[in-house]
Amino acid sequence: MRMNAAITGWGWHSPDRILNNKDLEKLVDTDDAWIRSRTGIRERRIAGPGDTTGSMCLHAARTALDRANLPANDLDLVICATTTPDHLLPATACLLQQRLGARHAGAFDLNAACSGFIYGVTVASQFIQTGTYRRILIVSGETLSRFTNYHDRNTCVLFGDGAAAVILEATPQKAGVLSTVLGSRGDVEGYLSIEAGGSAQPATADTVATGAHLVRMRGNEIFKMAVRCMAVAAHEALDQAGLTLDDIDHVIPHQANSRIITATQQAIGVPPSKVYVNVEKHGNTGASSVPIALGEMLENQPIRVGDNLLMVAFGGGMTWAAAVLRWADVAAIRRERSLKLSA
Ligand code: UT7
Repeated sequence: MRMNAAITGWGWHSPDRILNNKDLEKLVDTDDAWIRSRTGIRERRIAGPGDTTGSMCLHAARTALDRANLPANDLDLVICATTTPDHLLPATACLLQQRLGARHAGAFDLNAACSGFIYGVTVASQFIQTGTYRRILIVSGETLSRFTNYHDRNTCVLFGDGAAAVILEATPQKAGVLSTVLGSRGDVEGYLSIEAGGSAQPATADTVATGAHLVRMRGNEIFKMAVRCMAVAAHEALDQAGLTLDDIDHVIPHQANSRIITATQQAIGVPPSKVYVNVEKHGNTGASSVPIALGEMLENQPIRVGDNLLMVAFGGGMTWAAAVLRWADVAAIRRERSLKLSA
């Protein structure tokens, strides 16, 4: 029997510290009115001294496991989507596997920048649809504040920190991930990069002095490309799922900039009322942006069995991704699972 991959648990975590636009006025030549009108961002959450990508992911993952009512021991795989891992080695996913007690799970990190969560959902759904695995944790986390240049007004107003997770689980229901689309253009990698700290430019006193280990970005070029690529990917994902825009109940776009979200919503051709937006409170949280928005939406808006969701993202690489999911009867999946596990 062909299995589908449905979300059965979700959780998100934001650090406590708030950096608002007035705080940024003290750091760079900017003002609240410019930031709000050009980006839609009012504030973003910033990791405290004790927070890391791994620690925030751990909170989000535990919430997702609790919601799914699933012991970590029953996970088959942990995928951590991040551009800002705790270390170059080991993978943050391995730290999480150990801290969660996911003793039977493989673990790896995945770097597709802001598209990372949808890339993770794509990989995980393949494992489930082929019957290789049944229960996968996909967790996205970013501590972008540690790689942000707080002297550069072009970038420092945009980014925030946070983490979010989902449990993707096998089900015979005609629900879950219906289609995914991935894209990449490495020829424009310089639009968004952290140049130093890898093997091409190992960290030295000089790279630190010149800020080469911090995010550099050409925002204007990204803006145009992001709208174009997200709109095309969204339509490809709809076609693959055999759905039309009218079938979609909720759109969860990458939260980079409210103007990008509006332009993408118009380019896709979906009404604004279907689009979930929380960029004003979080800023751009990289790979965590889509799943934080998804988690918030699930907490704030009723979702019905059979609702169709479209997720779409764009980020460094450059990468882009879209996915269409149908909300499953989650209670039934949990029931079937506990019957099987106790049998
Ligand atoms: O997740 C994927 C990664 N990143 C993104 O998605 C970011 C995509 N890009 C954007 O969100 C926008 O391009 C920005 C918000 C970064 C910039 O908005 P924009 O409307 O594209 O502005 P711009 O880059 O064309 O700059 C317009 C002006 C410039 O001044 P001049 O050259 O016209 O005198 C900038 O120097 O705005 C200036 N500027 C600022 N002014 C006040 C840039 N940043 C700021 C700032 N405060 N923080």
